[in-house]
Amino acid sequence: MDPENKPKGPSPHYSLYQREMFKRGGEIGILPSFSVHPEELQESTKKKLNDRGYFYANSNAGLGWTDRANREAFYRWRIVPRTCVDTNTRDLTTTIFGHKIPAPIMFAPIGINKLYTPLGELVPARVAGELGIPYCLSTAASQSIEDVARANDEGTSEKNESNSVHEYSGPNGGNAKSPRFFQLYMGHDDEVTLSLLNRAWKSGFDVVMLTTDTWQLGWRPTDINIANYVFYYPGAVGNEVGLSGRAACEYAEYASGLGGPEGGRIPAYEEVKQFLPLWALPTKLTDGLVEVWTRFAV
Ligand SMILES: Cc1cc2nc3c(=O)[nH]c(=O)nc-3n(C[C@H](O)[C@H](O)[C@H](O)COP(=O)(O)O)c2cc1C
Repeated sequence: MDPENKPKGPSPHYSLYQREMFKRGGEIGILPSFSVHPEELQESTKKKLNDRGYFYANSNAGLGWTDRANREAFYRWRIVPRTCVDTNTRDLTTTIFGHKIPAPIMFAPIGINKLYTPLGELVPARVAGELGIPYCLSTAASQSIEDVARANDEGTSEKNESNSVHEYSGPNGGNAKSPRFFQLYMGHDDEVTLSLLNRAWKSGFDVVMLTTDTWQLGWRPTDINIANYVFYYPGAVGNEVGLSGRAACEYAEYASGLGGPEGGRIPAYEEVKQFLPLWALPTKLTDGLVEVWTRFAV
């Protein structure tokens, strides 16, 4: 991006991407290497991926009516442009859990990324670092917490308009160069859970997003039809890391435990409250893990 003829403001000039594409196409005939139209992007993704990869990302529970209702609710929102006010320098920056970030956008936790590339979560973690936007690592990931942290930091190595916005004012001592959060599926073994949280904290993940709505898989017809559940394939993506060392073993077995006979754990509110003080080990955890973001808790 070439922000030079734009007034400098607190936010990156993301819209320059469009200008760059127009310029490159007009001047030297180079077009974007993929469609930026969301529907066309979905179509080309479907052509590129096999059914397992596509349906894992694209399936909904049942007939997808909740997904449709959510979209309909979202479509009811409208952006009302402001006119005749000076919006030449815009400020999209915001602060979340002590992190100043360039735009109110985050990477949601997405598990089993090795379905798409042998590098798995290292790829989006690196991109998030390049952008300086929070990356949330899923418990069901197939790369170790430490490696993901490293990839996330590496992404920041070249300073740009977007990642140089980041500032952190929280208590974590992991010296993370980019904001990163950890999504927790609470398993049946509290010791393993604590160990995971401890490792995450040490690697600079300073917020825990506790998922409370996935105690068991949804009814996913498109996945059932092709038996699309990677944890049940020996040596398949998602659990092969379990064979590669103790720490990784703990992590991957824990993740794949979600698909085991016991399924995931249903953390009732009272139980979570009891468990919270345990997260105070070691002492460094005390302050940081006060920031727990619980999804869909009632
Ligand atoms: C392919 C896929 C994998 C996901 N994996 C996880 C996960 O491992 N942990 C989790 O808490 N949420 C997971 N989610 C849920 C997302 O983080 C997110 O909350 C959900 O997709 C809703 O956001 P959306 O409407 O932008 O898709 C996953 C979603 C998808 C589509």
